[in-house]
Amino acid sequence: MQTVAVIGAGQMGSGIAQTSAQFGYRVLLADVTVELAEKAKAKIGKDLHKLVARDKISVAEAEASIARITPVGDYAAFAEASLIIEAATEREDIKAKIFAEAAKVLAPDAILASNTSSIPITRMAAGSSDPKRFIGLHFFNPVPVMKLIEVIPGLATAPETVARTRAFAESLGKQVVLSEDEPGFVVNRILVPMLNEAVFALGQGTASIADIDMGCRLGLNHPMGPLELADFIGLDTCLDIVRVLHSTTGDSKYRPAPLLMKYVEAGWLGRKTGRGFYDYTGDVPVPTR
Ligand code: 3HC
Repeated sequence: MQTVAVIGAGQMGSGIAQTSAQFGYRVLLADVTVELAEKAKAKIGKDLHKLVARDKISVAEAEASIARITPVGDYAAFAEASLIIEAATEREDIKAKIFAEAAKVLAPDAILASNTSSIPITRMAAGSSDPKRFIGLHFFNPVPVMKLIEVIPGLATAPETVARTRAFAESLGKQVVLSEDEPGFVVNRILVPMLNEAVFALGQGTASIADIDMGCRLGLNHPMGPLELADFIGLDTCLDIVRVLHSTTGDSKYRPAPLLMKYVEAGWLGRKTGRGFYDYTGDVPVPTR
């Protein structure tokens, strides 16, 4: 059984860990503390049992997947991993520290991948121990459900690294889009300006939250409206991405919507904090404007 290490046990890291375990990989899951990784494993267990209750998977499959996940308190065991996936906070300084620590245990033929949603891969690779074995591996939320993974080689990434990473992504039952290392890659380059534009529209009083979202749900056949989706992704993450698009291109079309910045400053980050454009504290989300 191949071993995959996942760094970051938040929404994305947990989804990557769950999916990898469901597809037969042994998973080492790390966060800032082992307690956080253990908490994430418990949540994954609950999610898998929900799938059992809905007859999607058997109890045995759920239990086997849970058993394949080992929360760890440090990176020592990562020496056994053929792939280390970083899915930490979208901050380059934090990621750089993680890559430096991971380099100490990275096996000679192992790959180091980042699930960054927008930070340039070439730049992060240059600070890693072996840029040939560094790559972008971008999952979509919720990871167990979404069928896409973007694979993003940096300038120095070796073709063998690209081939092995693509094979891993496909082994999880996902489709792969290969993207050049351009800001936002393919999907976020298109999605995040749309979400930002929806916040501009809200801030300018074009329509209410409910109507902006209904407009896109019914008018475009999107499963979620843009404000609902921004809340789902996390408004801080959306702002981080739009800022990266803005700073790396210098193009004013990517300037963040002032209302998005205000919400983040207020700590209204979306579903994860119980409030974003919607209030999530009751049984159903309620628009706040
Ligand atoms: N594990 C496995 N399966 C799960 C799951 C989990 N943790 N959570 C949900 N599912 C499955 C359910 O079993 C269900 O399966 P079924 O259709 O076979 O019955 C299916 O997913 C749908 O779940 P629900 O019925 O609970 O919920 P909805 O039908 O309301 O769908 C949604 C929820 C899938 C989130 C849908 O609203 C959606 O697709 N929204 C858009 C998501 C999106 O755009 N994501 C991309 C964000 S961008 C991104 O991630 C990039 C980043 O860099 C910003």
